Amino acid sequence: MTHQAPRGTRDVLPGEIERWQWAEQQARVVLDRYGFGEIRTPLFEDFELFARTSGESSDVVQKEMYRFQDRKGRDLALRPEGTAPVARAYIEHGMAGESRIHRLWYMGPMFRYGRPQKGRYRQFHHIGGEIIGTAAAAADVEIIALFVDIFVAWGFENLKIAINSVGTPETRRGYAERLRSWLAPVHDRLSADSQNRLLANPLRVLDSKDPADLRLLSELGDMPRLLDCVDSASLAHWDLVLAGLAAVGVDYEIDHGLVRGLDYYTRTAFELHDPSLGPGQSALGGGGRYDGLIASLGGSSTPGVGFSIGFDRVMLVLAERGTAIPSRSDSIYVVSMNATHDAALALVRELRRDFRVLFDLEARSFGAQMKAAGKSGARLAVLLGEDEWERGAVALKDLTDGTQDTVPRIGLKEALRVRFARQGEESRTL
Ligand code: HAM
Repeated sequence: MTHQAPRGTRDVLPGEIERWQWAEQQARVVLDRYGFGEIRTPLFEDFELFARTSGESSDVVQKEMYRFQDRKGRDLALRPEGTAPVARAYIEHGMAGESRIHRLWYMGPMFRYGRPQKGRYRQFHHIGGEIIGTAAAAADVEIIALFVDIFVAWGFENLKIAINSVGTPETRRGYAERLRSWLAPVHDRLSADSQNRLLANPLRVLDSKDPADLRLLSELGDMPRLLDCVDSASLAHWDLVLAGLAAVGVDYEIDHGLVRGLDYYTRTAFELHDPSLGPGQSALGGGGRYDGLIASLGGSSTPGVGFSIGFDRVMLVLAERGTAIPSRSDSIYVVSMNATHDAALALVRELRRDFRVLFDLEARSFGAQMKAAGKSGARLAVLLGEDEWERGAVALKDLTDGTQDTVPRIGLKEALRVRFARQGEESRTL
């Protein structure tokens, strides 16, 4: 029997991985410029960590958790998201004692047992950032600007952030009552899932992906607005966030239906959507403030705000748009003859201390090696001809224009450096 990757997971192969690596690197640069430091947390945690923070009634906990027991019966789960683990680590390592405000980022796989479809996987990837330790609206603004600037670095244009305020858990309870009355007339026509949500947490109905539910909601007309229910302190915060976004030049659109799928949010909530992905998976990322999360995990009351980007969805959009990534042209192919093969092995190893070097492991004919060099995308070929090698020289061939020079073996590294530097200058002046 042959094996296939488990349903909802994928292999990323050379050919596709270059785009991932490029995008990861672009994101790293932006995160670094914003002064964020990387944090790596385990891929699995206590199940309770997520149950308590994502919310018992959330889809993530109800249906999507990869929950398992280890051999000692510990109740564990593959992480469905990164914020609760970061908060756990923040408390566990007493990071509050090191400095008041922490800017942290992470990148890696997350796991949710959903129905796989385009842009929705069981193992997917987040790039996330969190600012822990301040309730200042400037932190929300910084997080959203950073979130946008990562997309800008990937070549996205004319971005508009959907934003809302979800207030506090108390004001949400008031809102939930208003929603129940609003939805009462269509209660029996809602999907079974949404009817259950209406009991446990009516806000989740707004998060429904069921097309029939969505049609019903639009028929009902003016939905009660969360913003009409939030407390005055949250409203003051909201005004500051919007003013800050305007000041830094981030475009936003208030989305009164935006509630987010996880329970830990307070005040600011935001998302970025790309309509080219399906209606249920158009969100490229989202985030918000979570001022109660760390206290709910037993830490001292500490506010936080953050985002996560659905990296797989971004990769889909970039691939569909045909976004070109810079191709690399810094490789060397070493071509040997029978008599110089062993010498070539040593030379390749030495050159690899400074350059990207390819080589024919099978020591095939000169012609076959030249063909392979041409196909490899290498920019330069170093040819170890028998006579030249004996004279202490090699031939250096530019595979892009076919020109060839003889250079002394001793001066080879320098000659390669000069060639690559010249090429760098040429590409800069293009
Ligand atoms: P989230 O909205 O649950 O937020 O996930 C963020 C993004 O992950 C989504 O917008 C979507 O692009 C992507 N995503 C979610 N599920 C899948 C899936 N099954 N397949 C592919 N992509 C998916 C969070 O997880 C929070 N931790 C965000 C945050 C950080 N809030 C505060 N700090």
